Amino acid sequence: MAENRRPESMERITTPALAAAFIEEQLAALRAQIGGKKVLLALSGGVDSSVVAALLIKAIGKQLTCVHVNHGLLRKGEPEQVIEVFRNQMDANLVYVDAVDRFLDKLVGVSEPEQKRKVIGAEFIRVFEEEARKLDGIEFLAQGTIYPDILESGPVKAHHNVGGLPEDLQFELVEPLKFLYKDEVRVVGSALGLPDSMVYRQPFPGPGLGVRCVGAITRDRLEAVRESDAILREEFAKNGLAGKVWQYFTIVPDFKSTGITDGLRTYDWPVVIRAVNTVDAVTAEVAELDFGMMAHIVERITHEVKGVNRVLWDLTPKPTGTIEWE
Ligand code: XMP
Repeated sequence: MAENRRPESMERITTPALAAAFIEEQLAALRAQIGGKKVLLALSGGVDSSVVAALLIKAIGKQLTCVHVNHGLLRKGEPEQVIEVFRNQMDANLVYVDAVDRFLDKLVGVSEPEQKRKVIGAEFIRVFEEEARKLDGIEFLAQGTIYPDILESGPVKAHHNVGGLPEDLQFELVEPLKFLYKDEVRVVGSALGLPDSMVYRQPFPGPGLGVRCVGAITRDRLEAVRESDAILREEFAKNGLAGKVWQYFTIVPDFKSTGITDGLRTYDWPVVIRAVNTVDAVTAEVAELDFGMMAHIVERITHEVKGVNRVLWDLTPKPTGTIEWE
């Protein structure tokens, strides 16, 4: 479809000045499309939905309602950052939905990876639908669709597909980033004043930490994933690796091994570290990292994360291992 092709004349947005020109153009286009009406956006806090939110806040202010669903599978500090940036700093209309118990209850005993994804995706649509029904007079749904999503050229699908809303809740779509590549979205996000930690973050799957808590999710093991991931990110940032290594995270499998702490025998989980570089996520190579830094991370994870007595480093490229473990 012609309207889904990036115009050939469109210059690649690589500088703040080009981003500023794109923003001006979009503000006018958004105001023309939306007029005085109301818009709804599912704001995950990922790069794409955050940039759409910032753009719409600038264009139409309180006519936008952002819904942030905390499904309990987000990284440490993420829901707090969404509230801080969008509600406190940008003064957005932000509905924060604490759906942690709801998601985790639905996931009890669900161990098969694709089934986990289905449960998370379906529950997300249900929660979002309930929030949408509470709001009056919404006519538009904003989405962080970007050009690779349209081209379907990559396996990375960074945002939730809310296309599953029922018939009576169909809105006109607002997709201001649909002709942008990821690097351009980041430049635009920075020009809109979003923090680097939001704009230059690594890819994060829709089902979140859920696919890194291997097998059936339990709350204690999920916390071990969240806490070890936070330590890994902190240490990578300290060592100047944030934004340099393509994706890095931790996984907690559902088996235990013996260990020893303060002279006492333990029987606890291992944490697996995965850190890879790739261009398109179709193949990936293991990032070569400083052994001293890794030893320090092992020390921190084994001493600071409850229920963990061992750390493993996954040295498998893709293929044969996928980037995620599920
Ligand atoms: P794999 O594990 O297939 O991952 O090598 C390739 C890239 O895709 C991400 N990924 C997902 N993203 N929903 C997403 O939005 C998912 O269900 C999903 N599964 C994997 C993964 O993090 C990596 O960047």
